[in-house]
Amino acid sequence: MTPDVPAVRRVVDPHPGAAAALGDLWIAVTEAGGAVDFVPGADPDQIRALAVETVGAVRSGAARMLVLGADTAPLGTIFLVPNTGIAAHRADVARLMVRPDLQGRGLGTLLLDAAVAHARETGLAMLTLGARGGTPLPAFYAARGFVEYGRLPDGVRLSAEDSREVHLFFLRLG
Ligand SMILES: CC(C)(COP(=O)(O)OP(=O)(O)OC[C@H]1O[C@@H](n2cnc3c(N)ncnc32)[C@H](O)[C@@H]1OP(=O)(O)O)[C@@H](O)C(=O)NCCC(=O)NCCS
Repeated sequence: MTPDVPAVRRVVDPHPGAAAALGDLWIAVTEAGGAVDFVPGADPDQIRALAVETVGAVRSGAARMLVLGADTAPLGTIFLVPNTGIAAHRADVARLMVRPDLQGRGLGTLLLDAAVAHARETGLAMLTLGARGGTPLPAFYAARGFVEYGRLPDGVRLSAEDSREVHLFFLRLG
């Protein structure tokens, strides 16, 4: 890690510009072929709307946001969405993304490690996530200790001709 890589920090009270900045990151990641809810060519307004919703969930306490850098100019993000009731011991990992020009330098691993550490420190017992099939992502999570427990066939449809399974993972923290 180079000295100018900022620390991963939790954002509890997002800046008013955080949703727009998350939207910019998400659009750039999507256009570079990233597998975060969309495919290249997606309507940027839809991505921006989901960024607003995502930051709203952080404000309401329904989601936790970890950011590398400022939340108004993130180098990367990761979110944890804790479950409720009898599933309150676990959280879903969502929207791990690193700025396209910075990918492949260890920042995604840094974000994932920080999310795992945060989950552990706050008493969560398990993390779950889904990774798009046909990408390097299932191998990325498997190499970082996540265990694949199944695959959802036809879990995402990238186009009328391209449907992918979603690889389902968990990580025990206890
Ligand atoms: C997936 C992602 C977060 C990984 O972060 P990163 O900083 O690029 O990854 P790191 O440098 O920490 O680690 C490199 C590993 O990521 C994998 N990887 C996945 N997508 C990659 C990409 N676009 N560029 C470089 N490495 C990628 C590499 O295969 C490598 O795996 P290995 O170390 O097990 O051999 C990042 O590439 C990204 O933002 N991708 C687009 C968004 C996305 O698809 N997110 C996943 C949502 S489930």
